[in-house]
Amino acid sequence: MTTSSSDSPAATVITVAMAQPFTDQKPGTSGLRKSSRQFQTPHYLESFVEASLRVVPGVQGGTLVVGGDGRYGNLAAIQTIARMAAAHGVARLITTTGGILSTPAASHLIRTHQAVGGIILSASHNPGGLEGDFGVKINGANGGPAPESITDAIYQATLSLDSYRTLQADPLPLDQPARLQMGAMAVEVIDGVSDYAALMQKLFDFDRLAALLKGDFRVAFDAMHAVTGPYATSIFEQLLGAPSGTVRHGLPLEDFGGGHPDPNLTYAHDLAALMLEGEAYDFGAACDGDGDRNMILGRHCFVNPSDSLAVLTANATLAPGYAQGLAGVARSMPTSAAADVVAKSLGLPCFETPTGWKFFGNLLDAGRITLCGEESFGTGSNHIREKDGLWAVLFWLQILAVRGCSVADVMADHWRRYGRHYYSRHDYEAIESEAAHGLYGRVKGMLPALVGERFAGRAIATADDFAYTDPVDGSVTQGQGLRLLLDDGSRMVLRLSGTGTQGATLRVYLESYVPPSGALAQDPQVALADLINAIDALAEIKLRTGMAQPTVIT
Ligand code: G1P
Ligand code: ZN
Repeated sequence: MTTSSSDSPAATVITVAMAQPFTDQKPGTSGLRKSSRQFQTPHYLESFVEASLRVVPGVQGGTLVVGGDGRYGNLAAIQTIARMAAAHGVARLITTTGGILSTPAASHLIRTHQAVGGIILSASHNPGGLEGDFGVKINGANGGPAPESITDAIYQATLSLDSYRTLQADPLPLDQPARLQMGAMAVEVIDGVSDYAALMQKLFDFDRLAALLKGDFRVAFDAMHAVTGPYATSIFEQLLGAPSGTVRHGLPLEDFGGGHPDPNLTYAHDLAALMLEGEAYDFGAACDGDGDRNMILGRHCFVNPSDSLAVLTANATLAPGYAQGLAGVARSMPTSAAADVVAKSLGLPCFETPTGWKFFGNLLDAGRITLCGEESFGTGSNHIREKDGLWAVLFWLQILAVRGCSVADVMADHWRRYGRHYYSRHDYEAIESEAAHGLYGRVKGMLPALVGERFAGRAIATADDFAYTDPVDGSVTQGQGLRLLLDDGSRMVLRLSGTGTQGATLRVYLESYVPPSGALAQDPQVALADLINAIDALAEIKLRTGMAQPTVIT
């Protein structure tokens, strides 16, 4: 409903009044992730965008990047955001053909165009389509997820919102690159793939990679019908000359073909079966909905993401972009300490941050680290301020091309040198929220009394709720996960997911270290069996969730 209007040269700015304030934004999160149906509620998307445009510094007269992972709602949201950006005085809007823009490519565009920020349309690895999820993420001028100061201000702004401003204007044609105008705002529709591919060419040796991929080294890349399809096809099949068909499920679809675009052993099972049981391929990889996660597989070999970070750290100088060495490395707390061992041997600083990419941003901006990663299939570097799926895949291919060996050889060699961190994450998804919080609260209450107790034949050295003091700005973040550290270096962590949209998800992280002289080739579920049983007994996981098995085992 229009309550007031004011003319601008080419179009009319209107103010739309809303009957109710918006209450769905969670404080401390850099976006809004909900069911696609929820996003159909009148003024829903607009409310969050209005709050964001009011809060992000420099919007008036600035440059804004917008695009998404191609899921249901992507194109309509770009049109809505474009009209609202014009009404808020954005001088230049950068978007992409078909609205297709991966999260890492968006981060790069924000940085190269000195934008004030970006609005990325994605619910990451959550399913899409009308029955799936949709999301909006706000990134800041450094290209990373907006910092807490901004997200808290957005949250505050949503609480008192009673109207939003938009422009009455025709939809933008996004089918091909173009320079357009919407009211007083310039709009550049660019090919979102080429800038990103050019960045990768600076970091990796494309001649060497082409020689590998044109030879008899066979690669299977699964884009999961999500955003990386066009990027991977351009990079692997066109620029590097890999055979056509190297990229599977390469066409972005609004519902990801009905799949769950999360590259893990459960949701990328076709690729996992191809690599773990078949003989035809030397290297397999997959990325998630918005292209920031990666899974790496070799023939009969799964690379745990924590190990992947350690391998990239140990071999970084084999890539031209990192030939000068690394400033440091960071991992999230639940990620295994495999990277710590490499960092120590290389004399590099190593940081342990809470889960989530935003904590790496400060360290990257301050030049304290070059590489960072999470156990949740996220790896990245200072080239952008998001994790980057295809970057990790290219990095692995670079290492294999230079070393001339298989993925399994790289892993075996790594463990012989540094020892092995047996690691697994057990996810219990969509648990009834009360049961999950009850379980978590109970263990949290038990922590002080657990120190010194026996656990799976060892003693508990530390039992705490992880808190992080940012070494750059001194800010303190509390309540980041319940840790049990045993006297032999084994670790168990319990966390409740912050990204699920149905009920609650409990994540149990298990880790135990075996030095180079120990048993290095066991199945992690076997190596960790005593910890798995002991944590179940302590936390009453099966009893309280009513689930006999985790939903996902990584
Ligand atoms: C999950 C991952 C976390 C990652 C986040 C966004 O969050 O565990 O590492 O940063 O997705 O990709 P969670 O659902 O555990 O809160
Ligand atoms: Zn993602």
